[in-house]
Amino acid sequence: MPYTVPKLTDFSAAALDTAAKELVSALDLESSAVTSENDWKAYRDRWMGRKAGVLTQLNDLWLKIAPREAKREVGQNVNEIKGKVEQTVEATLARIQSGAASSRLLAERVDVTLPGIRRPIGAEHPVIKTMNEIVGVFRNLGYSVEEGPEVETDYYNFEALNFPPNHPARDTQDTLFIAGQDKKPLRDRLLLRTHTSPVQIRTMQKTKPPVRVVCPGKVHRNDAPDATHSPIFHQVEGLAVDTNITFCDLKGTLDHAMKALFGSNVKTRFYPSFFPFTEPSADVQISCIFCDGKGTRDGAPCRNCKASGWIELLGCGMVDPNVYGFVDYDPAKVSGFAFGMGVERIAILKYGVDDIQLFFNGDVRFLEQFG
Ligand code: PHE
Repeated sequence: MPYTVPKLTDFSAAALDTAAKELVSALDLESSAVTSENDWKAYRDRWMGRKAGVLTQLNDLWLKIAPREAKREVGQNVNEIKGKVEQTVEATLARIQSGAASSRLLAERVDVTLPGIRRPIGAEHPVIKTMNEIVGVFRNLGYSVEEGPEVETDYYNFEALNFPPNHPARDTQDTLFIAGQDKKPLRDRLLLRTHTSPVQIRTMQKTKPPVRVVCPGKVHRNDAPDATHSPIFHQVEGLAVDTNITFCDLKGTLDHAMKALFGSNVKTRFYPSFFPFTEPSADVQISCIFCDGKGTRDGAPCRNCKASGWIELLGCGMVDPNVYGFVDYDPAKVSGFAFGMGVERIAILKYGVDDIQLFFNGDVRFLEQFG
Protein backbone atom coordinates (compact mmCIF):
# COMPACT_ATOMS: atom_id res chain seq x y z
CA MET A 1 0.00 0.00 0.00
CA PRO A 2 1.46 3.39 -0.90
CA TYR A 3 1.71 5.83 1.92
CA THR A 4 -1.11 8.31 2.39
CA VAL A 5 -1.02 11.21 4.83
CA PRO A 6 -3.32 10.45 7.74
CA LYS A 7 -5.61 13.16 9.01
CA LEU A 8 -4.37 13.77 12.56
CA THR A 9 -6.80 13.58 15.39
CA ASP A 10 -4.41 12.97 18.23
CA PHE A 11 -1.95 15.86 18.55
CA SER A 12 -0.01 14.49 21.50
CA ALA A 13 3.77 14.43 21.25
CA ALA A 14 3.78 10.62 21.12
CA ALA A 15 1.18 10.46 18.34
CA LEU A 16 3.02 13.12 16.38
CA ASP A 17 6.23 11.18 16.73
CA THR A 18 4.67 7.96 15.48
CA ALA A 19 3.07 9.69 12.51
CA ALA A 20 6.36 11.39 11.64
CA LYS A 21 8.27 8.10 11.82
CA GLU A 22 5.74 6.40 9.57
CA LEU A 23 6.07 9.20 7.04
CA VAL A 24 9.87 9.15 7.04
CA SER A 25 10.04 5.42 6.64
CA ALA A 26 7.68 5.68 3.61
CA LEU A 27 9.91 8.47 2.27
CA ASP A 28 12.99 6.26 2.54
CA LEU A 29 11.27 3.18 1.15
CA GLU A 30 10.02 5.01 -1.92
CA SER A 31 13.43 6.63 -2.42
CA SER A 32 15.06 3.26 -2.66
CA ALA A 33 12.66 2.27 -5.46
CA VAL A 34 13.82 5.21 -7.63
CA THR A 35 16.12 3.96 -10.40
CA SER A 36 15.78 6.46 -13.21
CA GLU A 37 15.46 10.15 -13.75
CA ASN A 38 11.78 9.72 -14.62
CA ASP A 39 11.15 7.76 -11.44
CA TRP A 40 12.82 10.51 -9.53
CA LYS A 41 10.65 13.25 -11.04
CA ALA A 42 7.52 11.35 -10.05
CA TYR A 43 8.99 10.82 -6.59
CA ARG A 44 9.86 14.50 -6.20
CA ASP A 45 6.37 15.58 -7.30
CA ARG A 46 4.67 13.08 -5.01
CA TRP A 47 6.49 14.47 -2.00
CA MET A 48 7.09 18.09 -2.89
CA GLY A 49 4.48 18.89 -5.58
CA ARG A 50 2.89 22.19 -4.80
CA LYS A 51 -0.74 21.13 -5.31
CA ALA A 52 -1.02 17.60 -4.05
CA GLY A 53 2.42 16.70 -2.72
CA VAL A 54 2.77 15.08 0.69
CA LEU A 55 4.23 18.29 2.17
CA THR A 56 1.22 20.30 1.01
CA GLN A 57 -1.07 17.69 2.53
CA LEU A 58 0.82 17.92 5.81
CA ASN A 59 -0.07 21.58 5.92
CA ASP A 60 -3.72 20.79 5.38
CA LEU A 61 -4.12 17.59 7.33
CA TRP A 62 -1.83 18.31 10.26
CA LEU A 63 -0.96 21.93 10.72
CA LYS A 64 -4.08 23.79 9.74
CA ILE A 65 -6.40 21.65 11.79
CA ALA A 66 -4.15 21.47 14.90
CA PRO A 67 -5.70 23.02 18.00
CA ARG A 68 -4.07 26.25 18.99
CA GLU A 69 -2.09 24.79 21.89
CA ALA A 70 -0.55 22.08 19.65
CA LYS A 71 0.22 24.40 16.69
CA ARG A 72 3.75 25.16 17.80
CA GLU A 73 4.67 21.54 18.28
CA VAL A 74 3.05 20.41 15.03
CA GLY A 75 4.69 23.30 13.18
CA GLN A 76 8.11 22.27 14.41
CA ASN A 77 7.47 18.68 13.39
CA VAL A 78 6.24 19.60 9.94
CA ASN A 79 9.32 21.82 9.45
CA GLU A 80 11.62 19.01 10.40
CA ILE A 81 9.81 16.67 8.06
CA LYS A 82 10.04 19.24 5.30
CA GLY A 83 13.83 19.43 5.73
CA LYS A 84 14.06 15.71 5.74
CA VAL A 85 11.95 15.34 2.57
CA GLU A 86 13.99 17.96 0.70
CA GLN A 87 17.21 16.32 1.75
CA THR A 88 16.07 12.84 0.79
CA VAL A 89 14.72 13.93 -2.60
CA GLU A 90 18.01 15.64 -3.32
CA ALA A 91 20.06 12.67 -2.18
CA THR A 92 17.95 10.36 -4.34
CA LEU A 93 18.75 12.42 -7.40
CA ALA A 94 22.44 12.40 -6.54
CA ARG A 95 22.30 8.63 -6.17
CA ILE A 96 20.77 7.91 -9.58
CA GLN A 97 23.00 10.46 -11.29
CA SER A 98 26.15 8.96 -9.94
CA GLY A 99 24.76 5.54 -10.85
CA ALA A 100 24.24 6.69 -14.47
CA ALA A 101 27.70 8.22 -14.57
CA SER A 102 29.36 5.11 -13.33
CA SER A 103 27.42 2.85 -15.66
CA ARG A 104 28.45 5.13 -18.53
CA LEU A 105 32.05 4.96 -17.37
CA LEU A 106 31.70 1.21 -17.30
CA ALA A 107 30.26 1.09 -20.80
CA GLU A 108 32.87 3.43 -22.22
CA ARG A 109 35.77 1.84 -20.47
CA VAL A 110 38.93 1.61 -22.55
CA ASP A 111 41.41 -1.08 -21.79
CA VAL A 112 44.65 0.79 -22.24
CA THR A 113 46.63 -2.40 -21.90
CA LEU A 114 45.23 -3.82 -25.17
CA PRO A 115 47.66 -3.68 -28.08
CA GLY A 116 47.14 -0.64 -30.36
CA ILE A 117 45.92 -0.72 -33.95
CA ARG A 118 48.93 -0.80 -36.21
CA ARG A 119 48.26 0.98 -39.50
CA PRO A 120 50.80 -0.23 -42.01
CA ILE A 121 52.51 2.56 -43.90
CA GLY A 122 52.68 1.87 -47.61
CA ALA A 123 55.87 1.42 -49.55
CA GLU A 124 56.83 3.13 -52.78
CA HIS A 125 55.97 0.83 -55.68
CA PRO A 126 59.18 -0.75 -57.03
CA VAL A 127 58.46 0.54 -60.54
CA ILE A 128 57.96 4.12 -59.32
CA LYS A 129 60.96 3.77 -57.04
CA THR A 130 63.16 2.65 -59.94
CA MET A 131 61.72 5.30 -62.24
CA ASN A 132 62.49 8.01 -59.67
CA GLU A 133 65.98 6.67 -59.27
CA ILE A 134 66.63 6.77 -63.02
CA VAL A 135 65.19 10.27 -63.28
CA GLY A 136 67.34 11.29 -60.29
CA VAL A 137 70.52 10.22 -62.06
CA PHE A 138 69.72 12.51 -64.98
CA ARG A 139 68.46 15.37 -62.84
CA ASN A 140 71.88 15.37 -61.25
CA LEU A 141 73.32 15.89 -64.75
CA GLY A 142 71.10 18.95 -65.25
CA TYR A 143 68.23 17.31 -67.15
CA SER A 144 64.69 18.51 -66.52
CA VAL A 145 61.57 16.33 -66.51
CA GLU A 146 58.83 16.36 -69.17
CA GLU A 147 55.67 14.31 -69.42
CA GLY A 148 53.28 13.65 -72.28
CA PRO A 149 49.89 12.00 -72.83
CA GLU A 150 49.41 8.23 -72.79
CA VAL A 151 46.73 8.47 -75.46
CA GLU A 152 48.72 9.83 -78.39
CA THR A 153 48.12 10.64 -82.02
CA ASP A 154 49.65 8.66 -84.83
CA TYR A 155 51.62 11.80 -85.68
CA TYR A 156 53.54 12.02 -82.40
CA ASN A 157 53.93 8.30 -81.82
CA PHE A 158 55.07 7.52 -85.39
CA GLU A 159 55.09 10.10 -88.15
CA ALA A 160 57.15 12.85 -86.51
CA LEU A 161 59.53 10.16 -85.27
CA ASN A 162 60.27 9.31 -88.89
CA PHE A 163 58.04 6.24 -89.12
CA PRO A 164 56.35 6.99 -92.46
CA PRO A 165 52.77 5.72 -92.95
CA ASN A 166 52.76 1.99 -93.73
CA HIS A 167 56.47 1.72 -93.04
CA PRO A 168 57.32 -1.79 -91.77
CA ALA A 169 59.18 -0.30 -88.77
CA ARG A 170 55.73 0.35 -87.30
CA ASP A 171 55.23 -3.40 -87.06
CA THR A 172 57.86 -3.62 -84.30
CA GLN A 173 55.64 -1.60 -82.00
CA ASP A 174 52.58 -3.88 -81.52
CA THR A 175 50.30 -0.90 -81.24
CA LEU A 176 46.94 -0.74 -79.45
CA PHE A 177 44.74 1.59 -81.49
CA ILE A 178 41.72 3.46 -80.19
CA ALA A 179 38.60 2.27 -82.01
CA GLY A 180 36.43 4.46 -84.28
CA GLN A 181 39.17 6.73 -85.58
CA ASP A 182 38.97 5.70 -89.24
CA LYS A 183 37.27 8.88 -90.43
CA LYS A 184 40.10 11.09 -89.20
CA PRO A 185 43.26 11.75 -91.21
CA LEU A 186 45.87 9.14 -90.27
CA ARG A 187 48.06 11.56 -88.33
CA ASP A 188 45.18 12.53 -85.99
CA ARG A 189 44.09 9.00 -85.15
CA LEU A 190 44.48 8.09 -81.50
CA LEU A 191 46.42 5.17 -80.09
CA LEU A 192 48.04 4.19 -76.81
CA ARG A 193 51.61 5.38 -77.02
CA THR A 194 53.99 2.49 -77.58
CA HIS A 195 57.00 4.37 -76.23
CA THR A 196 57.84 7.66 -74.51
CA SER A 197 59.60 8.98 -77.65
CA PRO A 198 56.61 11.17 -78.66
CA VAL A 199 57.53 13.36 -75.68
CA GLN A 200 60.80 14.14 -77.54
CA ILE A 201 58.72 15.74 -80.30
CA ARG A 202 56.38 17.57 -77.93
CA THR A 203 59.39 18.96 -76.03
CA MET A 204 61.23 20.15 -79.14
CA GLN A 205 58.04 21.74 -80.50
CA LYS A 206 57.73 23.95 -77.45
CA THR A 207 61.41 24.57 -76.58
CA LYS A 208 64.25 25.98 -78.63
CA PRO A 209 67.60 24.21 -78.30
CA PRO A 210 69.44 23.49 -76.10
CA VAL A 211 67.24 20.79 -74.51
CA ARG A 212 68.11 18.22 -71.93
CA VAL A 213 65.06 16.29 -70.72
CA VAL A 214 64.05 12.96 -69.32
CA CYS A 215 60.48 11.78 -69.86
CA PRO A 216 59.21 9.07 -67.52
CA GLY A 217 55.88 7.42 -68.19
CA LYS A 218 53.58 4.55 -68.93
CA VAL A 219 53.49 2.89 -72.35
CA HIS A 220 51.33 0.19 -73.92
CA ARG A 221 51.92 -2.62 -76.37
CA ASN A 222 49.74 -5.41 -77.64
CA ASP A 223 51.78 -8.13 -75.94
CA ALA A 224 50.31 -11.14 -74.17
CA PRO A 225 51.39 -11.07 -70.51
CA ASP A 226 54.02 -13.58 -69.45
CA ALA A 227 57.09 -13.57 -67.19
CA THR A 228 58.90 -11.03 -69.36
CA HIS A 229 56.06 -9.18 -71.15
CA SER A 230 53.29 -6.90 -69.98
CA PRO A 231 50.87 -4.90 -72.14
CA ILE A 232 51.52 -1.98 -69.80
CA PHE A 233 55.00 -1.01 -68.76
CA HIS A 234 57.11 2.09 -68.14
CA GLN A 235 59.93 3.85 -69.90
CA VAL A 236 62.25 6.72 -69.22
CA GLU A 237 63.13 8.63 -72.37
CA GLY A 238 66.10 10.96 -72.61
CA LEU A 239 66.86 13.70 -75.11
CA ALA A 240 69.79 16.10 -75.34
CA VAL A 241 70.05 18.53 -78.25
CA ASP A 242 72.62 21.31 -78.49
CA THR A 243 75.45 22.40 -80.74
CA ASN A 244 78.26 19.87 -81.22
CA ILE A 245 76.71 16.95 -79.34
CA THR A 246 78.43 13.77 -80.44
CA PHE A 247 78.13 10.03 -80.01
CA CYS A 248 80.92 10.39 -77.41
CA ASP A 249 78.58 12.45 -75.26
CA LEU A 250 75.92 9.77 -75.61
CA LYS A 251 78.36 7.03 -74.63
CA GLY A 252 79.74 8.95 -71.68
CA THR A 253 76.29 9.89 -70.41
CA LEU A 254 74.84 6.39 -70.56
CA ASP A 255 78.01 4.78 -69.21
CA HIS A 256 77.76 7.11 -66.22
CA ALA A 257 74.03 6.41 -65.81
CA MET A 258 74.51 2.62 -65.87
CA LYS A 259 77.28 2.86 -63.30
CA ALA A 260 75.08 5.09 -61.12
CA LEU A 261 72.23 2.56 -61.32
CA PHE A 262 74.09 -0.77 -61.14
CA GLY A 263 77.38 0.07 -59.44
CA SER A 264 80.68 1.45 -60.65
CA ASN A 265 81.93 -1.99 -61.69
CA VAL A 266 79.57 -2.39 -64.64
CA LYS A 267 80.88 -1.87 -68.12
CA THR A 268 78.80 -0.74 -71.07
CA ARG A 269 78.88 -1.78 -74.70
CA PHE A 270 77.14 -0.15 -77.65
CA TYR A 271 75.83 -2.57 -80.21
CA PRO A 272 74.59 -1.45 -83.65
CA SER A 273 70.81 -1.34 -83.91
CA PHE A 274 68.01 0.46 -85.73
CA PHE A 275 65.36 2.99 -84.79
CA PRO A 276 63.72 5.23 -87.39
CA PHE A 277 64.28 8.37 -85.29
CA THR A 278 67.98 7.88 -84.49
CA GLU A 279 70.95 7.53 -86.82
CA PRO A 280 73.19 5.85 -85.97
CA SER A 281 71.30 3.74 -83.43
CA ALA A 282 72.59 1.41 -80.79
CA ASP A 283 71.47 -1.03 -78.16
CA VAL A 284 73.28 -0.54 -74.88
CA GLN A 285 74.44 -3.62 -73.09
CA ILE A 286 75.88 -3.75 -69.59
CA SER A 287 78.29 -6.39 -68.33
CA CYS A 288 76.22 -9.07 -66.61
CA ILE A 289 75.69 -8.08 -62.99
CA PHE A 290 75.06 -11.72 -62.01
CA CYS A 291 78.32 -13.26 -63.31
CA ASP A 292 80.40 -10.06 -63.42
CA GLY A 293 80.54 -10.30 -67.19
CA LYS A 294 82.25 -13.70 -67.11
CA GLY A 295 79.41 -15.64 -68.71
CA THR A 296 79.80 -18.44 -66.18
CA ARG A 297 78.70 -18.67 -62.60
CA ASP A 298 79.64 -21.45 -60.14
CA GLY A 299 81.17 -23.36 -63.06
CA ALA A 300 77.88 -23.31 -65.05
CA PRO A 301 76.83 -21.01 -67.92
CA CYS A 302 75.17 -17.87 -66.50
CA ARG A 303 71.43 -18.02 -67.16
CA ASN A 304 70.88 -14.29 -66.80
CA CYS A 305 73.07 -13.34 -69.77
CA LYS A 306 72.77 -16.63 -71.64
CA ALA A 307 76.50 -17.11 -71.02
CA SER A 308 77.34 -14.03 -73.10
CA GLY A 309 78.52 -11.86 -70.22
CA TRP A 310 76.33 -9.00 -71.49
CA ILE A 311 72.75 -7.91 -70.82
CA GLU A 312 70.87 -5.75 -73.30
CA LEU A 313 69.24 -2.86 -71.54
CA LEU A 314 68.16 0.07 -73.70
CA GLY A 315 67.95 1.69 -77.09
CA CYS A 316 69.64 4.92 -78.08
CA GLY A 317 71.20 6.87 -80.91
CA MET A 318 71.91 10.26 -82.42
CA VAL A 319 68.69 12.10 -83.27
CA ASP A 320 67.95 11.50 -86.96
CA PRO A 321 68.15 14.82 -88.91
CA ASN A 322 64.74 14.00 -90.42
CA VAL A 323 63.22 14.40 -86.94
CA TYR A 324 64.50 17.99 -86.69
CA GLY A 325 62.48 18.72 -89.84
CA PHE A 326 59.27 18.01 -87.92
CA VAL A 327 60.08 20.44 -85.08
CA ASP A 328 61.73 23.36 -86.86
CA TYR A 329 65.22 22.69 -85.57
CA ASP A 330 68.06 23.34 -88.03
CA PRO A 331 69.93 20.06 -88.54
CA ALA A 332 72.87 22.02 -89.88
CA LYS A 333 73.24 23.81 -86.54
CA VAL A 334 72.25 21.33 -83.84
CA SER A 335 72.88 17.72 -83.04
CA GLY A 336 71.74 15.52 -80.22
CA PHE A 337 71.16 12.09 -78.81
CA ALA A 338 68.17 10.21 -77.45
CA PHE A 339 67.71 7.08 -75.43
CA GLY A 340 64.85 5.07 -74.00
CA MET A 341 64.91 2.47 -71.26
CA GLY A 342 62.37 0.10 -69.83
CA VAL A 343 61.82 0.71 -66.13
CA GLU A 344 60.53 -2.79 -65.26
CA ARG A 345 63.49 -4.34 -67.03
CA ILE A 346 65.88 -2.31 -64.88
CA ALA A 347 63.89 -3.04 -61.70
CA ILE A 348 63.93 -6.78 -62.53
CA LEU A 349 67.72 -6.72 -62.76
CA LYS A 350 68.29 -4.46 -59.75
CA TYR A 351 66.01 -6.39 -57.41
CA GLY A 352 66.33 -9.90 -58.87
CA VAL A 353 62.62 -10.18 -59.71
CA ASP A 354 61.82 -13.22 -61.86
CA ASP A 355 58.37 -12.32 -63.19
CA ILE A 356 57.30 -8.90 -64.53
CA GLN A 357 53.68 -9.72 -63.57
CA LEU A 358 54.61 -9.32 -59.90
CA PHE A 359 54.79 -5.56 -60.46
CA PHE A 360 51.15 -5.44 -61.54
CA ASN A 361 49.41 -8.09 -59.44
CA GLY A 362 49.26 -5.90 -56.35
CA ASP A 363 50.33 -8.66 -53.96
CA VAL A 364 51.29 -6.84 -50.77
CA ARG A 365 53.72 -9.59 -49.79
CA PHE A 366 55.76 -8.66 -52.84
CA LEU A 367 55.26 -4.90 -52.70
CA GLU A 368 56.06 -4.44 -49.01
CA GLN A 369 59.60 -5.68 -49.60
CA PHE A 370 60.48 -2.40 -51.27
CA GLY A 371 59.73 -0.14 -48.28
N1 PHE B 1 61.52 4.34 -78.24
C1 PHE B 1 62.41 3.21 -78.42
C2 PHE B 1 61.62 1.92 -78.03
O1 PHE B 1 60.73 2.02 -77.25
C3 PHE B 1 63.64 3.34 -77.59
C4 PHE B 1 64.51 4.47 -78.02
C5 PHE B 1 64.36 5.72 -77.47
C6 PHE B 1 65.51 4.27 -78.96
C7 PHE B 1 65.17 6.78 -77.89
C8 PHE B 1 66.31 5.29 -79.36
C9 PHE B 1 66.14 6.54 -78.82
O2 PHE B 1 61.92 0.87 -78.50
